Amino acid sequence: MVPEHNQPLNPRRFKKEHMKRSAINLKEKLAKFSEHWSPKIIAQMNDYHFKLVKFQGDFVWHRHDDTDETFIVLEGEMSINFRDGKVDLKAGEMFIVPKRVEHKPLAKDECKIMLVEPAGTVNTGNAQSDLTAEDDVWI
Ligand code: NI
Repeated sequence: MVPEHNQPLNPRRFKKEHMKRSAINLKEKLAKFSEHWSPKIIAQMNDYHFKLVKFQGDFVWHRHDDTDETFIVLEGEMSINFRDGKVDLKAGEMFIVPKRVEHKPLAKDECKIMLVEPAGTVNTGNAQSDLTAEDDVWI
């Protein structure tokens, strides 16, 4: 019997290792979709997803009861309204909304954002809305 380390790599394992060495290009990923408020997963780290999303206009008030939510602005400007104030964010800035805090993102002009949050996080949190997006779409 051939020792395990001398056996050819399992093709699935090989693919996984190979894929890991391909850069994930944010600009290329952003060019793959145009709809607003519809996060797309580009990577997973442990139980967390990295998602790209484009904002334009007003989102809905909602909260996430089980998790904080990270917004990293890649291009453009956006704000996050809270019941007692707001934070303005522009490209190169980030903000973490604590769990259970109601928030409403908005962007006057199109803004491109990376979200970092646990796999399975729904964009509208506790609020059912026309803007509720599928939570497991990879690009
Ligand atoms: Ni949210």
